[in-house]
Amino acid sequence: MLESLEKIKREALEALDSVQDEAALEGWRTTFLGRSSTLMLSLKQLGSLSAQERPKAGQAANEVKQALEAALEGRKAALSQQRLQQSLGAERLDVTLPGRTIPLGRLHPITQTMRRINAIFAEMGFQVYRSRDVETDEYNFQLLNIPRHHPARDMQDTFYIDDGTKESSVLLRTQTSPGQIHAMREFAAQDPKNPPPVRIILPGMCYRYEQVTARSEIQFTQVEGLAVGEYITFGDLKGTLTDFAQRFFNADVRTRFRASHFPFTEPSAEMDVECFVCHGAGCSVCKHTGWLEILGSGMVHPTVLRNGGYDPGRHSGFAFGMGPERLTMLRYRIEDIRYFWRNDLRFLEQF
Ligand code: DAH
Repeated sequence: MLESLEKIKREALEALDSVQDEAALEGWRTTFLGRSSTLMLSLKQLGSLSAQERPKAGQAANEVKQALEAALEGRKAALSQQRLQQSLGAERLDVTLPGRTIPLGRLHPITQTMRRINAIFAEMGFQVYRSRDVETDEYNFQLLNIPRHHPARDMQDTFYIDDGTKESSVLLRTQTSPGQIHAMREFAAQDPKNPPPVRIILPGMCYRYEQVTARSEIQFTQVEGLAVGEYITFGDLKGTLTDFAQRFFNADVRTRFRASHFPFTEPSAEMDVECFVCHGAGCSVCKHTGWLEILGSGMVHPTVLRNGGYDPGRHSGFAFGMGPERLTMLRYRIEDIRYFWRNDLRFLEQF
């Protein structure tokens, strides 16, 4: 028995030397360690040995089994190491090559412009205030001194939820100006007898039921501004907005104010900056005027102050409204407003 065990071991180890792959290794395991291998059959036969012989033979058989199992594991490890070496040699991995870049998203050009505007006014001490997109006719028009049948409504064709005939008619705001009323009322409610000063901007989306063209969209953003307090003058309006234009465009941009009309301000003015294309000489971009309009503004109308909870005998204020789409188009000479909603990466990736 001992001799035959020795022989099994020798044969098995010899055979293992020529095993070159995992399939052959599995074959080897079945032949030498499987259920019907000579070694396993010998182990079964131990019972038929005499009580004297049995322990020795048993021990020897177990030692052979352990030796073969250890050899099997060793071979398995060697084979997998060998395979790894082979593939490393064959596949040639160049660890010095640069990695693949992951495409990064970016902020939409309008978002970038809005953030710039917000940051400039924040530096001047204006708070950013949010107001709702869904409004009533009362807030969007009436409290802003635009009664029903006022011609100013013709310029702001409106998305109504109903027939649009009531004060409570629900609509999508056509301008950020109704936020002025919400804000003033909220500030005034803090101390109705002695309302605190207001200095805010209101950025947000506006909606108009209009034909979409290269110059107008049904959905666009505005940034509204409002400053209310005691002794606020038209000089404050001019200084604040001129400073804004210089920070937004460049420090020596020329600006001018032109008399205009808005129902919620009196007096009203539009602000122009010198055309960046022709520097005032006149070209197709500025329609040969030398100037580009960038915003509407004015001193808050007494009726609007009163609707907001402020006493026009004691308080005054200025307001303004600008369109980030227009500012972005001027700054980058974009000729068609529809690009902003088209989601064309060739356009968006330029910003
Ligand atoms: N709400 C105006 C519009 O949409 C813009 C505007 C003009 C806002 C003058 C103002 C302002 O606050 O004072 O056309």
